[in-house]
Amino acid sequence: MKGLFITIEGIDGSGKTTLATNLVALLSRKGYPVIQTQEPTKGRIGELLRTYLQEAKIPPGVDALLFAADRVEHWKELILPSLEQGRIVVSDRHKLSSLAYQSAQGLEMDWILEINTLVPDPDLIIYLDIPIDTALERINKKSQLEKFEVRNELEKIQKHYQRALSKTKSRIICLDSTLSPEDLTNKAFNEILPYLPSLSR
Ligand code: TYD
Repeated sequence: MKGLFITIEGIDGSGKTTLATNLVALLSRKGYPVIQTQEPTKGRIGELLRTYLQEAKIPPGVDALLFAADRVEHWKELILPSLEQGRIVVSDRHKLSSLAYQSAQGLEMDWILEINTLVPDPDLIIYLDIPIDTALERINKKSQLEKFEVRNELEKIQKHYQRALSKTKSRIICLDSTLSPEDLTNKAFNEILPYLPSLSR
């Protein structure tokens, strides 16, 4: 594969979307062919998931299977073709989110791994580390909260992320997300630099 697949992970409020947007803008300014994407996707399964995420009563197994289905479609339709064209793909969340969030909902991590075997692990995972209080301050600025966006859920998910990180085959880059957005972007860029495809000028 010619491209590079990078995912950004962390609890809600950890600043993934800001970093993804800033990192993609920086890579693009430097001349790298790059695309930004996210999970849940903006496709039909992703949109269904977003409505389900507003409802606490959806069974965790349904969430897990839908996230896995959304991921298969995402991989086949966007990520794989982009990598084959030599692009860098930056995804705001991917498989590790399912391992952390759906296991925090009580599902076995090995089963979650099993239903996600159709999609490979990313080359690099940028994991954003953040104190729960800082994440909650950021989340509380939003009007419509999703079911995971409360303190005890976030604490549980953060613990499950630590276990999930030990299960992935990806290279992990752990960054302190209390840094300013600019410093975080520069730090992320410096960390991924050794893995970037060389630019043909
Ligand atoms: P999020 O990245 O917060 O999207 P947005 O910023 O558009 O609201 O993702 C929505 C929620 O979905 C988030 O709370 C985490 C959850 N999620 C899972 O539980 N499992 C998964 O596999 C993924 C991709 C997300």
